[in-house]
Amino acid sequence: MLSIKEINKYLKNNLKPSRYEHTLGVVETAKALAKLNGISEEKAEIAALAHDVAKNLSKYKMEEIINENNILLSEVEKKNFNLWHSIIAPIEAKEKLKIEDNEILDAIRWHTTGKENMSILTKIIYISDMIEPNRNFPGVEKIRQLTFENLDKGVIYGLSESIKDLLNKNMLIDLNTIKARNYFIL
Ligand SMILES: [Fe+2]
Ligand SMILES: [Fe+2]
Repeated sequence: MLSIKEINKYLKNNLKPSRYEHTLGVVETAKALAKLNGISEEKAEIAALAHDVAKNLSKYKMEEIINENNILLSEVEKKNFNLWHSIIAPIEAKEKLKIEDNEILDAIRWHTTGKENMSILTKIIYISDMIEPNRNFPGVEKIRQLTFENLDKGVIYGLSESIKDLLNKNMLIDLNTIKARNYFIL
């Protein structure tokens, strides 16, 4: 693996300034949540740094990576290319940042949709992406407050808010997001 300093440098050089700022916000939130929930702050920092590693790639390039790696997309994933940077994040993180830790790779793979039975690290990256300090949307304060009280409560609330937002915008809802929420409630 590259050092945290080298990973940071790669991202600074390869993400738009606003995306890099967002990434640093995710790092700050994820480290605080890792400490609070008793997991490695270093792993949280690396996963947070790497989560949007593929965000600057063109749609064409992302499609190429998906095809080269024989990744089978679901119907929703085919139509929703906002999910693609998340799907290929582990591939880019391995290739460009030399990250091999499967827990970290899992967390960055599922940062956009969530999935059922998430690890603590995967939950932390999912919710930190939503509530980092630069995020500013109606209701974000409530999600922040719940998350710092209790990680699971924050994640359930975040998943529900995300589903409501997609419904309101008449957008496709990835099945993994539904499964993620159901898993907590079943
Ligand atoms: Fe992302
Ligand atoms: Fe992000």
